[in-house]
Amino acid sequence: MLDHNYEAGGNMDRREFLVSAVAGTIAAGLAATASADGFYPQPVDQSLFKNVNRAKDPNKKTPLEMSHAPLIKAPASVKAGEPFEVTVQVGEKMHGMAEVHWIEYISLSFGNAPAGKLALEPKGYMLPHATFLVTVPKEAAPKGMLTLVAEQRCNLHGLWESTLDIKVV
Ligand SMILES: [Fe+2]
Repeated sequence: MLDHNYEAGGNMDRREFLVSAVAGTIAAGLAATASADGFYPQPVDQSLFKNVNRAKDPNKKTPLEMSHAPLIKAPASVKAGEPFEVTVQVGEKMHGMAEVHWIEYISLSFGNAPAGKLALEPKGYMLPHATFLVTVPKEAAPKGMLTLVAEQRCNLHGLWESTLDIKVV
C-alpha cells in the first residue's frame, strides 16, 4: 500500500514536470516571436525570406527582380540523351558579389529533380553565372516537354526562382 502511494506521488511529480516543461517551450516560442525580425548585422526585408521569390511579370521586371530573378538560357529544343548547355545568370542585370551582399549558390533542377548546384563565395572572384552541361533521359520528359528550374539565394534578398520550358525530342 505504501508502495502504491509512493508510486502515485511519483506519477504526480512526473506530470508536474511535464506541465512545466511544456510551459517552458511556450515561453521560448513567445521569445522567438518577439524577435521575429531578428538582430541582423544588416537590416533585411524579412518578407523576402518567407517564400520563394519570382518576377511577377517577366516582361516588366522591377529593379529587385532585374538583379535577382535567375536568367536561364537553353536551347528551345533538345534531343533526349544528348548533352546540351544550360546557362543560369543572376539576374538580367548581374548581381554583385561584395563581401556583405552576395549570391550564395545557383542551382538547376529538371522540375523537382535536382540536376546540380554551384556554391559561390563572397569574394567577388566568381560572378553569379553558371553553365551546366546536362542531358535529359527520355523518361524525364514523358510529354516531350521539360521545365528547367533555376534557383539562387542572395544573402540579403532571399531565395529566387525562374523557370523555362524546353522541348525534348
Ligand atoms: Fe541581393
